[in-house]
Amino acid sequence: MSVLVVEGMAAGYGDVDILSDIALRVDPLEIVTIAGTNGAGKSTLVKGLMGLLTRIRGKVEFEGTSLLGVAAERRIHLGISYVPQVNNVFPSLTVLENLEVVEGVGNRARQIAKMIERFPALAARRATRAGALSGGERQQLAFARALMPAPRLVILDEPTAALSPALVTGVLETIRGLPGLGVSVLLVEQRARQALAISDQGCILDSGKVVIADRASALLADERMAELYLGEH
Ligand SMILES: Nc1ncnc2c1ncn2[C@@H]1O[C@H](COP(=O)(O)OP(=O)(O)OP(=O)(O)O)[C@@H](O)[C@H]1O
Ligand SMILES: [Mg+2]
Repeated sequence: MSVLVVEGMAAGYGDVDILSDIALRVDPLEIVTIAGTNGAGKSTLVKGLMGLLTRIRGKVEFEGTSLLGVAAERRIHLGISYVPQVNNVFPSLTVLENLEVVEGVGNRARQIAKMIERFPALAARRATRAGALSGGERQQLAFARALMPAPRLVILDEPTAALSPALVTGVLETIRGLPGLGVSVLLVEQRARQALAISDQGCILDSGKVVIADRASALLADERMAELYLGEH
């Protein structure tokens, strides 16, 4: 069974649709990238999946169960974690406190120990306020927070956006390792080429519509698509 299935989804803000006829599928232990230019509707799509929009209709199913009408905060208990594009850590809390306040965590001490082991940079920064971390450390903390509840699906909204090229590679490596931990991934990225290179499937959004969805390798090989949508990264 697919982890996430979206069909005929329309969504937006107020009484205006931004997205229409969205179809999307994440199969178990796949990485699926959503690419598209600024304003294409990527974050709106993710917010819709996370229950953060009041204007949404169509089919949205996680492991065969409809998510429409399910309160945003329930998703963590169902097994979905989300790293928003901005404000993905609490800057005034320490690293440890950021991990302590995550909802839906079973064995908290064990999970915190695991995260510190998986993201070694956080160990030394345990007592540092998240607002004082470097961009790379902060992104590691955001990932650690997302993985604390042992989710089966992680949704990441432009995790490399504010990072230097050297750090981008590290973040993409972390993402590439997630299926090995039992986590399927829906990744929103403007660095489409690099994201597709670690992905199984890709989907390109333009003006609120899916212009093409295919295997990531096929999208990378399609010169016309590449020229139009994949940019230079
Ligand atoms: N809260 C909001 N209220 C009304 N319109 C919004 C809101 N947030 C976004 N929009 C509009 O929805 C459209 C899609 O925006 P969205 O943030 O989903 O794009 P995006 O693909 O994530 O872009 P970026 O790459 O810049 O993050 C834009 O036209 C934007 O102006
Ligand atoms: Mg966005």
